[in-house]
Amino acid sequence: MLRRILRDERGAVGTAARPPAGPSAGPHAAATLRRDPWAREILPILIGLGIFVIYATWRAFMNAHYYAAPYISPFYSPCLAANCAHPLATVFGPWWRLTPSLLIVWVPLGFRLSCYYARKAYYRSVLWAPPACAVRDRAAAYTGETRFPWVLQNIHRYFFWLVLPIVAIHWYDVALAFRFEDGVGLGLGSLIILADATFLSLYTFSCHACRHACGGAVNTFSRAPVRRTLWRWVSALNVHHGLWFWLALGTIVLADLYIYLLALGTFADVRLL
Ligand code: FES
Repeated sequence: MLRRILRDERGAVGTAARPPAGPSAGPHAAATLRRDPWAREILPILIGLGIFVIYATWRAFMNAHYYAAPYISPFYSPCLAANCAHPLATVFGPWWRLTPSLLIVWVPLGFRLSCYYARKAYYRSVLWAPPACAVRDRAAAYTGETRFPWVLQNIHRYFFWLVLPIVAIHWYDVALAFRFEDGVGLGLGSLIILADATFLSLYTFSCHACRHACGGAVNTFSRAPVRRTLWRWVSALNVHHGLWFWLALGTIVLADLYIYLLALGTFADVRLL
């Protein structure tokens, strides 16, 4: 009998595809009926996001070792203050005493934090709201993004437009990364900066807001062939948006770390040409 009860309970908790049987079957108490290892993805995401947040905060406030000619760290580009080691333009005069990173880092930070993929990642791994599909929220009631502060996530579409000039400037940094004191060349840093700009672009142009800007509010695609073509390109990129998110995150850290170590004198840049 005991064996039968245990078998019945296992069956009841483990049948995600099967609804509870019988007229008396009401709402179940289990947090989920899923039997697959859905919690496995939480820890790696938590570690990845945690490392990035700690590293980016540490570097943004360091205000040093972010330029090693001809490379500038993506955390400090564009550098717009007079106290920059390598200013692009002096928009903020000597009165600005804080780290110049603070002037621009809020744009890519806001863009990433309000990204649809990032939201899924930290809602699941940090907030457990919900921890996975078809798994109950940690909070008793589900309010989604209908209330403050989460309703502010709608600002993402504006961050998309704000981040575009930064993407363009990162490509300008790529051009500079091939110009050495002795002329045009190629260093390991040039390739790392190139990878950073490439993945940042793939991440930005695969954004859902970009997809909407290209193909949204079009009633008849045959009358808007250019927008249709753009929408198809962005849609193809958008399929891998999560991958671009992580690659962009990884390469920005790699680029900054490489420049930091160069600036510290830990090693010299590897010249390939
Ligand atoms: Fe991820 Fe816009 S949805 S960057």
